[in-house]
Amino acid sequence: MSFSTAIKRSSPKLSDGLGAAAVVCRGVTKRFYHYEHRTTSLREAFVRTILRRPIHVRTAEFTLRDFNLQVKRGEAVALIGSNGSGKSTALRLIAGIYAPSIGTIETFGRLAAVIELGVGFHPELTGVENVSLYASVMGLTRHEIAAGLPEIVRFADIGEFVHEPVKYYSSGMQARLAFAVAVCVNPEILLLDEVLAVGDHAFRERCYDRLTAFRDDGGTLVVVSHDASSVRRLCTRALWLEKGRVRMDAGIDEVLSAYDAAADAHQ
Ligand SMILES: Nc1ncnc2c1ncn2[C@@H]1O[C@H](COP(=O)(O)OP(=O)(O)OP(=O)(O)O)[C@@H](O)[C@H]1O
Ligand SMILES: [Mg+2]
Repeated sequence: MSFSTAIKRSSPKLSDGLGAAAVVCRGVTKRFYHYEHRTTSLREAFVRTILRRPIHVRTAEFTLRDFNLQVKRGEAVALIGSNGSGKSTALRLIAGIYAPSIGTIETFGRLAAVIELGVGFHPELTGVENVSLYASVMGLTRHEIAAGLPEIVRFADIGEFVHEPVKYYSSGMQARLAFAVAVCVNPEILLLDEVLAVGDHAFRERCYDRLTAFRDDGGTLVVVSHDASSVRRLCTRALWLEKGRVRMDAGIDEVLSAYDAAADAHQ
């Protein structure tokens, strides 16, 4: 597993009546197409043999269906649910990495996302080079980057590795660098996908302190995590996703206990 940072510029203007909103998803459906070669009939088998070509069958998979979410500025929301329920897809849609198949997504304010799998970091560039590149894409001037770099390097705390190409990093090191960049470029909206689970104990505690300060300063947080204690520490509200649909959207304790009860009932 590897981690990196992504950015998104805010939607041009506020939607009507959404003055305090940071993220607004309306009726979002995300469909992925899978191509597989499958022989389903004698005729197909014949054609395939004659043409010496596999028959590709296109099947659509709905990863997210009719997803609605409004996050207010300063709110901290957790996305929970079992593997494959659509959490990372929802986060990537909000980050602007995926486009919705149906529906609209608006974000208001500077957004940084720390997500699984290399979107953002260039494997051949060193940590420092990646940070500089990312910060310039975020709109920081060369002077601001030079001033901010020591803090990012200090926060990531990966030693001499910052001068090595990112392709040599462990997933924990990538997560540390991605997290350090995301929090140090002063975003207004921060999206985190499982990043807290990867760092060691000391780094995790540093992340919690930083995220608590971010939230207390009015920052907006959307966190994907399987770890109930970490989301309970950071978030006040949770969305439970099940097979791409929102099963519950309520206070964090209420959602986590319903989720636990459902998991217990399954065993
Ligand atoms: N790029 C893609 N192409 C095709 N299918 C995809 C793609 N990304 C996700 N999916 C599918 O969408 C579904 C939801 O995936 P997603 O990664 O959002 O789940 P998740 O809730 O984050 O799971 P996990 O807890 O394992 O991280 C899965 O069935 C997955 O196979
Ligand atoms: Mg995921």
